[in-house]
Amino acid sequence: MAGVLYIDTSFTKVTVKPLHPTFGAEIQVQDWNNLDDDAVREITRAANKYGFCVFRNTGLDDKGHVEFSWRLGELDNIKRFITGDRKLRYEYLELFDAGNIADDGSILDPNSTRAHTNRGNQLFHTDSSYNFRRASFSLLRAVELPPKGTGGSTEFADTRTAFVELPDSLKKDLVKNNYVGCHTLAQSRKLGSPEYFKDLDPTKFPFARHRLAQIHEGSGRVNLYVGAHLHHIEGLSDDESVKLRDTLNKHVTQPKYVYTFDWEQPGDMVMWDNRATLHRAMSGSFAGKYRRDLRRTTVHDESANAWGLNDTEGVTALGYQLSAKTLGAPKMTPATSTPAPVAAVSAETRDAPETTPDASTPAPAPVVSTETIDAPETTPATSTPAPAAAAVDVVAASTETFDAPETTPEASTPAPVAAVSTETVDVKETTPAASAPAPTAVDVEIAAVCDKTLDAPDTAPAAVGISVAAS
Ligand SMILES: [Fe+2]
Repeated sequence: MAGVLYIDTSFTKVTVKPLHPTFGAEIQVQDWNNLDDDAVREITRAANKYGFCVFRNTGLDDKGHVEFSWRLGELDNIKRFITGDRKLRYEYLELFDAGNIADDGSILDPNSTRAHTNRGNQLFHTDSSYNFRRASFSLLRAVELPPKGTGGSTEFADTRTAFVELPDSLKKDLVKNNYVGCHTLAQSRKLGSPEYFKDLDPTKFPFARHRLAQIHEGSGRVNLYVGAHLHHIEGLSDDESVKLRDTLNKHVTQPKYVYTFDWEQPGDMVMWDNRATLHRAMSGSFAGKYRRDLRRTTVHDESANAWGLNDTEGVTALGYQLSAKTLGAPKMTPATSTPAPVAAVSAETRDAPETTPDASTPAPAPVVSTETIDAPETTPATSTPAPAAAAVDVVAASTETFDAPETTPEASTPAPVAAVSTETVDVKETTPAASAPAPTAVDVEIAAVCDKTLDAPDTAPAAVGISVAAS
């Protein structure tokens, strides 16, 4: 799709050129070596607004990539995967190996376990939705690319606009029931290579529970948090769950919501918000023939919905030891306004103590644990927002403007719960299971902003909620 030929003049520190009518932008940075805090804040704001940001020919190396990423928040790392005699091809543990290079430097055999594992990443997904604490941003940078015309592009889907354009009946269903989606990496691995993983049973793995429709704090818009890791939806029968899951995934990945990003040269980097988009890696004739070396940093979500509805107290799930400290996190408090001490960060990460899986943790299937691009489990932070506070945060976030992603929610913000309880919904009634969550203030806020688009003016949640209820 041709780029949208204008510049978003609401940005002054960086140049922002929208790429698609509803999402995506190319950002030109004056000097990556002298990126001040205001510029970093603008990049974050652009990502909040556009969902994904393309940076061409950055000139960044591994260190610069990791250094910039730390300024966006705490980073996940791959220390837990460097086991046995496996050696990392590069220095920084914050970099996930998203290419097709084997540990020994050769081109990955398309028939290898790792290649089969990576096929799940060719399905639209959102990074880390299978984690109890999910990811906010992912930053993927090209180090080496296959010849042009041999494939390997990256595609994005606009899950916020897709929500706005859902059929009214389905939208109301989502608002009314405020469903919880259950995610596991095993689901996408099996879907990506069903024959290879025919004996893999996703139900044997712990599920990460996240709301299906939720407010994206950085924009105040509603996002559909779906994708290939989504296994089922709580409160529905198996048939209903599969139907809704597949309907939503099919809806959000229609061509009109998809942008294809073609890598042009090493140094190109794309940053996306996993809470506002889906993405997938495209295969091609390069597979097994040409090197495609891409490396990714993954930022831990810090929003009110970061932990979803997952129990973080005394629970040990696959790949987690929830009582363990985040590797090095106590000494790392990156914020958009504070440059992170990168040298100290990388050293600290390398020296961080090993996390030891709890004895009760189910043994991961080797085929899953070798996954790389979407590499599995994040290490949870030591603190978790209480549910009540999270609800309040979401209420406050929903009132944010596109250009004000860093507001501080007010704990006293009232939730207009009555708007939901009086809502008339003329859709097929569903019967949530007894364990299904009761409607909360979040329902109301989703209703309040459910028609908000990229260019829509901000609206007062309560008033819009009433209009939605009356429609
Ligand atoms: Fe991914």
